Amino acid sequence: MNFQKICVLGLGYIGLPTASTFATHGLRVVGVDINTAIIETLRGGKIHIHEPGLGTVLQAALESGDLTVSSEPEEADAFLIAVPTPFYLDTHGEYNGRQYKLADMRAVTSATEAIIPHLRKGNLVVLESTSPPRTTIDLVAPILERSGLKVGSDFFLCYSPERVLPGQILRELIENPRVVGGITPESAAAGRDLYATFVKGEIIETDATTAEMVKLMENTTRDVNIAIANEFSRLAEKFGVDVWEAISLANRHPRINILNPGPGVGGHCISVDPWFFVEAAPDLTPLIYQARQVNDEQPHFVLSKVRQAVGSLNEKKIAVLGLAYKPDVDDLRESPATEVVHLLQKDGARVKVWEPFKPEADLPGIDMACTLEEAILEADALLLLVNHTEFRALHPDDLISTTKARIAFDTVNGWDAEKWQKAGFQFIRLGAGK
Ligand SMILES: NC(=O)c1ccc[n+]([C@@H]2O[C@H](COP(=O)([O-])OP(=O)(O)OC[C@H]3O[C@@H](n4cnc5c(N)ncnc54)[C@H](O)[C@@H]3O)[C@@H](O)[C@H]2O)c1
Repeated sequence: MNFQKICVLGLGYIGLPTASTFATHGLRVVGVDINTAIIETLRGGKIHIHEPGLGTVLQAALESGDLTVSSEPEEADAFLIAVPTPFYLDTHGEYNGRQYKLADMRAVTSATEAIIPHLRKGNLVVLESTSPPRTTIDLVAPILERSGLKVGSDFFLCYSPERVLPGQILRELIENPRVVGGITPESAAAGRDLYATFVKGEIIETDATTAEMVKLMENTTRDVNIAIANEFSRLAEKFGVDVWEAISLANRHPRINILNPGPGVGGHCISVDPWFFVEAAPDLTPLIYQARQVNDEQPHFVLSKVRQAVGSLNEKKIAVLGLAYKPDVDDLRESPATEVVHLLQKDGARVKVWEPFKPEADLPGIDMACTLEEAILEADALLLLVNHTEFRALHPDDLISTTKARIAFDTVNGWDAEKWQKAGFQFIRLGAGK
């Protein structure tokens, strides 16, 4: 199938790089977002998210005229939906006394509805948003058929999960293998033709529900594996073992790959997607549910260990380094670091946060510092919550004279214990019970 013009709905971390990449590979692209502030920012040639290299690609796409942005979709050969699929914060499901989170599919629903007036025979629609199993068949297809057109015969419909790594999105968009799940084999073939515009990795055709499951299985596997690492970290503390040393030794086994423990699991994917399985089949997912519980409890484990190190937290000043959900990104969604800050504050601590990727973050009740120096100056303890490259590069010898703190607490194995101790800090690492 031949594509001249596409419409990408949702211009966030996924939609904007995708729209820009299609535009720099010869398609005319209309990028659509309901957030008018984002449209204004993009029209002004600026960018609202941090992703290395995206500014350059976006600039090229806008200047060539191949990418335009709008708050409304318009007629096109293909429509891509890359809108958020979070969980509801104010409501939950329950099974056998276990509370689970519910997928909030309102953005997918409204983006799909916005396509209806522009849908024509022969068009392709692709859902990229991570979604519960059967969303493409049970939610998206019936909405699109309100146009009077029949899915499979009049228009093509696919689910294609996005598997890029934030921080590497532009490279991985092109190089990663791509799964394209069609509602019919012809739909999958049409999806394949579209992504072949720029994807250099293998493009694998399957059905829509398999493709949905693939994405959820990938992220659920990581969640469960991080949960076991976090549980190992608690066990190591109990037995006086350094979990980081134990993991690195266990990983010398040719078939073992234990992931890193830490202050919890965050972000828009790994801490959210397993719930889509639990909601869809709570009776079949006790392990997935339990892994979510373990990872969600990890900020409480951090709190208990900080308390042990610092004593009563009442009126103690804690400098928190990092608020993002993972290293070297500006994304704060579902970040466990935020939860740790709230827990410290509940215990009476006065917390100042330095997040170099989002110093201006405006989060209720969280006191952001404008510089590292400001965050640490009066602190009683430094608490490393995110393994940003620039935090790993800090020199404790330089810091010791710019902070009152003499305790350095590392939850992510980012700092060299010996260096910090030599510089005069009491050094504690989460999971290092030695
Ligand atoms: N961020 C990632 O690393 C990543 C990786 C893989 C998959 N995903 C999935 O991709 C999807 C998008 O994630 P994201 O990180 O890009 O989200 P995001 O919040 O960064 O961007 C989504 C954008 O969609 C816009 N939007 C909401 N409703 C809309 C509508 N009806 N019409 C048009 N625009 C609308 C929002 O204003 C926002 O700008 C989610 O399902 C997510 O789980 C994300």
